[in-house]
Amino acid sequence: MELLQLKKFADPQTLAEHFARQLIDWIKERDSLHVALSGGSTPKLLFRILAKEQDVDWSKVHLYWGDERCVAPDDVESNYKMTKDLLLDRISMPVENIHRIRGEADPEEEAQRYAQLVQDQLPITNGLPVFDLIILGMGGDGHTASIFPHQMELLTAPSNCAVASHPVSGQRRVSLTGRVLNNAKQVAFLITGAGKREVFNEILHRRGVWRSYPTSHIQPAGELSFYVDRFVLEEPG
Ligand code: 6PG
Repeated sequence: MELLQLKKFADPQTLAEHFARQLIDWIKERDSLHVALSGGSTPKLLFRILAKEQDVDWSKVHLYWGDERCVAPDDVESNYKMTKDLLLDRISMPVENIHRIRGEADPEEEAQRYAQLVQDQLPITNGLPVFDLIILGMGGDGHTASIFPHQMELLTAPSNCAVASHPVSGQRRVSLTGRVLNNAKQVAFLITGAGKREVFNEILHRRGVWRSYPTSHIQPAGELSFYVDRFVLEEPG
């Protein structure tokens, strides 16, 4: 794993604007880019910014999701719906480039289908699919994608995808597993807000119960970047 890169921004919007520029540059530099998206609040800002960009050749981009809630694609909880509303409906991306997790399907069957899809669509190293970029968030409990602290086994699960569950609501999710996340060329965490401060700093400084947070186990062979705002970093006051 290359050294962890910590990129600090004044606020979520500034972070999202910078990351959008970076992503657009990556798209321009490549013939193709296989990207796994995340749900959550910071990606919403990012998608709104990307939707306004005019000169992006979206046909070079293949979109996947790191996780999806087991709900219909038009459900307000759906990560795909959020992306569709804020980005996909506003850009011209070939429909065949959009590889959504079918939240409406049987979770176990969809986990198997999606596991095979990423195995078929992506280059393979170490027997695992390689994403060019995986965008992740981190929950206040240190979860990432839909790997929660009560299901740490998903970090080392042998399959590409697994059925996870939210620790409070019990809502089922389909999530990429830790081995696939760690096989990416690059993983970029977008983490904002004071609610993440304590957990993020435990992870960053490897103190306290940092090992109990799934996010701390995402240590890809490639690049690992944390894009954070000052509320995550600064002490209150
Ligand atoms: C999801 C996301 C999840 C998210 C974190 C952080 O499906 O909700 O994939 O992992 O990234 O919960 O979300 P916020 O950025 O909104 O706090």
